[in-house]
Amino acid sequence: MTLLRAENLTVAFGGTKVVDGIGFAVPRGGTLGIVGESGSGKSMTSLAVMGLLPSGATRSGSIDFDGTELTRLPERQMRAIRGDRIAMVFQDPLSSLNPYYTVGTQIAEAYRSHRSGVSRKAARTAAIEAMERVHIRDAGRRVDDYPHQFSGGMRQRVMIAMALSTEPELIIADEPTTALDVTVQAQILDLLAEVRRDTGAALILITHDLAVVSEVADELIVMRHGAVVESGPAEQIFSDPRHEYTRALLDAVPRIDDSIGELRTTGGTP
Ligand SMILES: Nc1ncnc2c1ncn2[C@@H]1O[C@H](COP(=O)(O)OP(=O)(O)OP(=O)(O)O)[C@@H](O)[C@H]1O
Ligand SMILES: [Mg+2]
Repeated sequence: MTLLRAENLTVAFGGTKVVDGIGFAVPRGGTLGIVGESGSGKSMTSLAVMGLLPSGATRSGSIDFDGTELTRLPERQMRAIRGDRIAMVFQDPLSSLNPYYTVGTQIAEAYRSHRSGVSRKAARTAAIEAMERVHIRDAGRRVDDYPHQFSGGMRQRVMIAMALSTEPELIIADEPTTALDVTVQAQILDLLAEVRRDTGAALILITHDLAVVSEVADELIVMRHGAVVESGPAEQIFSDPRHEYTRALLDAVPRIDDSIGELRTTGGTP
């Protein structure tokens, strides 16, 4: 069953269309990969879904989320969906975390904002559990640490813990591993795959790196200049890319089998 379906989605800055009439669907519990070169419109697509486009951008077309048309939803209701049913994980966790509060406080606040009448103490316990769930060691102590005391990979785990605190049905991860080194990338991808398995949340994984999506995506759309040039089951696109541009992206990862092998063998050992 489809959880999210975008049809004829367009994002424009004045007369310039940066997303140009694209369509895609995310099945409940499934993973959609969005790949494409820098500037192809991947982030604008995800921000359009979240209703978080920068000022000056306009959105048209249809975004159906579980029977609700998001493009016609008043901001108040959209905010409720954002804080509750759809969560986002960004490339740079440091810019999404407040440097002046401990990670525990920030996870606890995300948790409390989703549930009325939860005490601070209970939220702190939930924050520690959330940190354990994303395999942060010694969570009971680290809950009182500040963002800068964590490595990039650990900060991304904190962000995933925060995203999970609202028990979302959809997680949108925009280049979640780009800032990380290869070994840590593989660990975060493993974690996202595990989270999806355990929680049943659907995932939209955005990346310019085909090796990354090949690990986790069921379905794939390939974007270029705001348009979808190729879409279908990920395996099919990898084994038999139809579009020249997709082939070029694949060629840009010349030893793709090697790099997948590398990701697999280094994965799972945080
Ligand atoms: N505020 C803005 N005003 C005008 N154009 C913008 C603005 N923000 C982004 N764009 C343009 O929109 C297009 C799509 O940008 P987008 O950020 O979606 O690309 P992307 O595929 O996410 O790239 P990357 O891989 O680098 O993150 C780009 O050509 C970009 O220059
Ligand atoms: Mg982007």
